[in-house]
Amino acid sequence: MKIGTTHSSSARSSMPDTDATLKAGPTPDREPTPGRNATPDRNATPDRDATEAVAFPQDRTCPYHPPAAYDPLRAARPLARITLFDGRPAWLVTGHAAARRLLADQRLSTDRTRDGFPATSARLAAVRGRKTALLGVDDPEHRNQRKMVLPDFTLKRAAALRPHIQRIVDERLDVMTAQGPPADLVTDFALPVPSMVICALLGVPYADHDYFEEQSRRLLRGPRPADTQDARDRLEAYLGELIDRKRHTPGEGLLDDLVRRQLGEGAVDRELLVALAVILLVAGHETTANMISLGTYTLLSNPRRLTELREDPSLLPGAVEELMRVLSIADGLLRMATEDIDVDGQTIRAGDGVVFSTSVINRDETVYPEPDALDWHRPARHHVAFGFGIHQCLGQNLARAELEIALHTLFERLPSLRLAAPPQEIPFKPGDTIQGMLELPVSW
Ligand code: HEM
Repeated sequence: MKIGTTHSSSARSSMPDTDATLKAGPTPDREPTPGRNATPDRNATPDRDATEAVAFPQDRTCPYHPPAAYDPLRAARPLARITLFDGRPAWLVTGHAAARRLLADQRLSTDRTRDGFPATSARLAAVRGRKTALLGVDDPEHRNQRKMVLPDFTLKRAAALRPHIQRIVDERLDVMTAQGPPADLVTDFALPVPSMVICALLGVPYADHDYFEEQSRRLLRGPRPADTQDARDRLEAYLGELIDRKRHTPGEGLLDDLVRRQLGEGAVDRELLVALAVILLVAGHETTANMISLGTYTLLSNPRRLTELREDPSLLPGAVEELMRVLSIADGLLRMATEDIDVDGQTIRAGDGVVFSTSVINRDETVYPEPDALDWHRPARHHVAFGFGIHQCLGQNLARAELEIALHTLFERLPSLRLAAPPQEIPFKPGDTIQGMLELPVSW
């Protein structure tokens, strides 16, 4: 049986006005999502046949909590049954320990070109047959690809980029404050900051941002499968041309280094270079932009936690980890089993689709007591919001640096920053894509 509805094209918060929530109780930021109280017995152990399959993915009801419809999944750790958009059953990994074990298990493939690889939307299904660099390849090919780009994403490199990130953040805030209030924080700040950073790192001209941001949006959100296909074609054509130009007039970025290596050693062919450029450019700006917009919305909706952070900025690195855990914006990592795998008495069969719900895994109460609460003091670092294992996010050091600088500077420079519309009227992204705000009207 299927529980819940499928996604819509955008979602609006059903959270009550937060100030009202705040007045309602002594620890209001710890208020669970409405509907959460209906959670069934979380100790129940499902078996493959008896468990009701929940439709996955579904829209969030509050942008910073997993959909209330996932409550039965939270009750069924470490594995649950789900039904995908095409009616196909799959496993959902919901337990934290099992997730880290399975994400490091080479019997789970990420090769999307495999017959029967699961998809969580018609959009994803439409591009399933196309080769994706890094995230779409298994070892040993994956290891070779990752080695080529890793030096540009180390902790040391992210630390060296901090002054540059700070400059970009300052400039964007100068522009935004010169034009406002009000402002849409998504278009004026959350999107341009990571977009400018990844352009500089890769050697992509930011002057083209309207084009590649629009194609990235269509790639990740369609709405039709044909949009996703077309967006992928356009991104490949755009980056292919850029790479060809760099052969004649090389510049300073990572793509220029790869072109030089391609010409010098023949280690990278053009097709792979383009595929690497696509994933680095798209993953490099969309994800972080969503974390900045949703992180800001979450902080503004939880004023006590925000005050705590303002009073003690040393809490910031921990706060970024906790926001990553709670927001789990990349919710639904995909794998396919290539062999039978036993997981705590249940068997994932070869050929089965396996999906990891990071939002559910990151609220495993055996690892995170009071998992729905925002708590800057908890050790949240072992969350799986950046994944785990060989595909763990390549850009995580960069993303952490961007988030720390962007959130700190935003709230320091604009102490009176506030939402410029009632929270329930601010649209956020539907459940079948990376989570974030579609718009974020703010004033100060
Ligand atoms: C807060 C922002 C970000 C979040 C939440 C995020 C999340 C993730 C997650 C969950 C994965 C693993 C997917 C899986 O195992 O199926 C991943 C992989 C990846 N991310 Fe990120 N990411 C972020 C920022 C970035 C940035 C800034 C870059 C820069 C280029 C980036 C590049 C990548 C790449 C290339 C992979 C694939 C790695 C591989 O397969 O070896 N990400 N990311």
